[in-house]
Amino acid sequence: AKDPVRVLVTGAAGQIGYALVPMIARGVMLGSDQPVILHMLDIPPAAEALNGVKMELVDAAFPLLKGVVATTDVVEACTGVNIAVMVGGFPRKEGMERKDVMSKNVSIYKSQASALESHAAPNCKVLVVANPANTNALILKEFAPSIPAKNITCLTRLDHNRALGQISERLNVQVSDIKNVIIWGNHSSTQYPDVSHATVKTSSGEKSARELVSDDEWLKGEFITIVQQRGAAIIKARKLSSALSAASSACDHIRDWVLGTPEGTWVSMGVYSDGSYNVPAGLIYSFPVTCKDGEWTIVQGLSIDEFSRKKLDATAEELTEEKALAYSCLS
Ligand code: NAI
Repeated sequence: AKDPVRVLVTGAAGQIGYALVPMIARGVMLGSDQPVILHMLDIPPAAEALNGVKMELVDAAFPLLKGVVATTDVVEACTGVNIAVMVGGFPRKEGMERKDVMSKNVSIYKSQASALESHAAPNCKVLVVANPANTNALILKEFAPSIPAKNITCLTRLDHNRALGQISERLNVQVSDIKNVIIWGNHSSTQYPDVSHATVKTSSGEKSARELVSDDEWLKGEFITIVQQRGAAIIKARKLSSALSAASSACDHIRDWVLGTPEGTWVSMGVYSDGSYNVPAGLIYSFPVTCKDGEWTIVQGLSIDEFSRKKLDATAEELTEEKALAYSCLS
């Protein structure tokens, strides 16, 4: 039998946490033959609720779940973890300035970076979900210099999956028959959902999604806006932000990273830019990636037309500004 993998979920008493931990305990993230030990961190005001989640995990009697650590102590939470899913953060409340929210999250991610650096298992893989996800991941990277940059990522897979969902509804095809959409840039409303290279499996072979949709106006307009604004639409409908889809996408992100992407298929991940596609190096930016043997590689050589170029640059610009704002909170 395999040794258990230790998976940290921060903010585990929150909405996404509540949807995510049972998925991990059922093997959705790491496979149905992989035992897990869950480490759950939250802050003292949520300690009782966190303990309630732990009680339910016990009650669910998950065969793969070999242990649960539920704590408000960041060192205990980080000790020995192989995978860290960072969902905890400070939400923007009405009337708060962007800088104030950034400042709270910078200080959270700075201290959690140090705890991970000192106590996580070697080669720990990190996924930041909490917003501003790209910039929180960047701060975590800066303050955990001994964790390789390639091990620190942020979640844009939800946006990627939303794009698949929209194309599936538009073409009335199975979501599993569509592949290679791309989310470029920031997990924010400046992200660029791009179907230029996406394909659809049809009875007469693989076809370009763009040709099948055959409505560039929709693809360059409404489609992009729907995906960019989907989070807001969910909040309007549910009075709460996306949780089950965020949790499921976080599992997709880690599963593909650890177990690999299928041949010929890429996914979107927020990763440390090396300057590919002329995206400034040193930002955490969402790119198309393939994964193999636990490592991601940015897909190279895709053609970028003028329309796309502008969109890639606009979202990079926002991330550059966010980075500057985050740094101004440090001084
Ligand atoms: P929530 O408010 O229900 O849960 C957040 C939890 O984090 C709370 O239990 C809170 O006590 C905890 N927390 C706060 N500070 C903490 C700290 N320093 N250490 C540990 N835990 C801490 O929020 P929800 O709905 O679960 O969302 C979590 C985050 O995920 C938010 O920042 C949200 O904006 C983000 N998000 C990101 C998505 C993405 O695609 N990247 C999609 C959906 C949400």
